[in-house]
Amino acid sequence: MLERIRAEVAAAGGWIPFARYMELALQAYYGRRDRQFGTQGDFVTAPELGSLFGRTLARQLRALDPESILELGAGSGALADTLLKELDCEYLILETGAALRARQAQRLGNRVTFLDALPSAFRGVVIANEVVDAMPVHLVRWQEGGVFERGVTLADNLAWADRPASGELLEQAKAIDVPVPYESEIGLAGRAWMRTLGERLEEGTIFVIDYGFSRREYYHPQRAMGTLMCHTRHRAHGDPLVQPGEQDITAHVDFSALAHAAREAGLDVLGYATQAQFLVNCGITDVLAQANLENALRYAPIAAEAQTLLSPAEMGELFKVLALGRGVKKPLLGFSQGERLHTL
Ligand SMILES: C[S@@+](CC[C@H](N)C(=O)[O-])C[C@H]1O[C@@H](n2cnc3c(N)ncnc32)[C@H](O)[C@@H]1O
Repeated sequence: MLERIRAEVAAAGGWIPFARYMELALQAYYGRRDRQFGTQGDFVTAPELGSLFGRTLARQLRALDPESILELGAGSGALADTLLKELDCEYLILETGAALRARQAQRLGNRVTFLDALPSAFRGVVIANEVVDAMPVHLVRWQEGGVFERGVTLADNLAWADRPASGELLEQAKAIDVPVPYESEIGLAGRAWMRTLGERLEEGTIFVIDYGFSRREYYHPQRAMGTLMCHTRHRAHGDPLVQPGEQDITAHVDFSALAHAAREAGLDVLGYATQAQFLVNCGITDVLAQANLENALRYAPIAAEAQTLLSPAEMGELFKVLALGRGVKKPLLGFSQGERLHTL
């Protein structure tokens, strides 16, 4: 991977934007088989904890009664596995990682249909859990002399180099009010993805679930070093240039930017809430009570799962749910209380 990146930097005249580096590194990372997910892997996502997340989300989906579900970036296939037991509808998966797709196919068999690209038109429910945080981001530095884009250059090893920002990146960066000096990310790829998805959704709802903030919190004066993080074997660190392709690289999601892009594509913003509030509104406590009735011995692990999903110190507050839609008339169950659209 390192050689491939060095060759691309050299061919580009000695510098590539960080976003391109992140794209290449993550392609290699998600192309690897069976590495990332679960307690032995690099990180654990909500569907990997057990079935509680999926069973609770299913209550929201059942209320929408979709003909089709399209899951983007299905990871190990855990969420699809749970939802398919709860719901009776067509299930489509779009997965960009070749090895992950093979793993999903093995687990889910003919219960799902794999797509190679976003459909040109879609009706139903789209789910993207921890997908947008894996999309490439541009790195930006605001300083006295102007706005700079951080990129990757060649020294003995890969090294950082800044250039004056230009084009759409500069335009977006200028619209963000931060005290200088300040470094952060701008997710141009995530916004473009949302616009395309929005244009292609003829009718239905998109749920984006991920860690992140509204714009005011994201570009807070105290977050002057941004949110970029690397994960390997449950260890987090801040240097994405070491061992490209061997570690996960992520950035938190700017949910205000996604909502804005969705509106540009003509979608309605249907709800924005913390994961904890969303799951409580969907009836996670009823799902827990049901689990206790079914098998009291299994209650303790499920209660521990609920703790991880809901606790403000774990996933409850940092993770948010953003729902977007077209032609959706009824209010969504998951936002019946504690909805925070006004903060976007
Ligand atoms: C952090 S994992 C989350 C997996 C799963 N959703 C979960 O919650 O366990 C990110 C997933 O998104 C996929 N991915 C990244 N960019 C994507 C895109 N543009 N479209 C579809 N999948 C994408 C990756 O291959 C990977 O499966």
